[in-house]
Amino acid sequence: MTTLQAIKITERVYWVGAIDWGLRDFHGYRTSRGSTYNAYLILGEQPILVDTVKANFWSEMLTRINSIIDPTKIKYIISNHSEMDHSGCLLKAIDLIHPKKVFASKSGAQTLQEHFHCSHCLITPVKNGEKIQLGNTDLTFMETKMVHWPDSMFTYFENEGVLFSQDGFGMHLASEHFFVDMNELSVIRYEAAKYYANILLPYSSQVITTLDSLVVFNIKPQLIAPDHGPVWRGEKNIHYITELWRKWARQESYLKTIIIYDTMWQSTEKMAITIADSITAVGGDGVEVRVMPLSGSHRSDIAVELLEAGALLIGSPTINQQIFPTIADIICYLKGLKRKNLIGQVFGSYGWGAESIKILQEEFKNMAVETIAEPVKAKYIPTDDTLTACRILGEKIATVLNDRNND
Ligand code: FEO
Repeated sequence: MTTLQAIKITERVYWVGAIDWGLRDFHGYRTSRGSTYNAYLILGEQPILVDTVKANFWSEMLTRINSIIDPTKIKYIISNHSEMDHSGCLLKAIDLIHPKKVFASKSGAQTLQEHFHCSHCLITPVKNGEKIQLGNTDLTFMETKMVHWPDSMFTYFENEGVLFSQDGFGMHLASEHFFVDMNELSVIRYEAAKYYANILLPYSSQVITTLDSLVVFNIKPQLIAPDHGPVWRGEKNIHYITELWRKWARQESYLKTIIIYDTMWQSTEKMAITIADSITAVGGDGVEVRVMPLSGSHRSDIAVELLEAGALLIGSPTINQQIFPTIADIICYLKGLKRKNLIGQVFGSYGWGAESIKILQEEFKNMAVETIAEPVKAKYIPTDDTLTACRILGEKIATVLNDRNND
């Protein structure tokens, strides 16, 4: 009896991954609830390992595999995604198992080679839509380019209707409850949205392609088993997450405004609060406002709020003819995420040169934010006239958002 056990997912599929309870940063994304790296074992005449785990979790994965099968009995490995949270133990697994083949997409085979420079790995590229039979196991491979890397693919285990979706439909959530429906729905929805916003949003057109490909290949899973977070089971839950992904990928306008700012002597802060108050006063019950000072808002928490927003406002004081470094950080991050279909405007205070406004305006052009009204700037301390301009900006944002969402 080993201490860490494989978890039965279906009659023939076991979870043999690792739980990273302490993870709080995933390449710049704050993972407040930790994460899991999911690897799966398909039992049968030719046992198959689907993905591996992050390098430092090798012994945890191996212990779980050992709890159900002698690892050397595994005949094949599938690498659905070569990012290191899933391929970190691949070389060790190959050296222990000596699989007959390691399946990956064509791009995945190349990426794994570039990562590992491995002459003995027997990495075998598979085609989009290719079907193979390994003993009593029938598999279909489906390319999912940019969900999350060019190499990404899904593997469908036809005999039991299990779709192994690597980053697809995943979330960073460490939980001992291995099925989504065993967890609190509000937590599931939030973490799924946070994952989409921070990892998949820039690739939304490829997400639509992926969702459409499931129909093209007639893949109707009973379970979706991602590489992070719990497993989706049953028609209702699978419909829930696939429709959420489709909705997020459309990047529609929502009745929500995000106001991001940093402040030196509370002038820009006063402007932010005034704009927010005006939006709330004019917008009516359906309009939401999130004021997110960078003194207490992480970039990945801002990204998740922006996923279901329709307006973005950013305020920065001028410092040494620049925007605040914290503002530069969030702009860099949001530019990469490429949220479409936003309206907004910029604001900020200054002393003798209002460079921050000019820089922010240029950045809004780069981000393709449709600017509404004029930017608002305050010399030193906002006057009554400046605060009135903030209220007018807020009114215009609320009015345009309402119009867009009532069309
Ligand atoms: Fe979980 Fe793109 O790796």
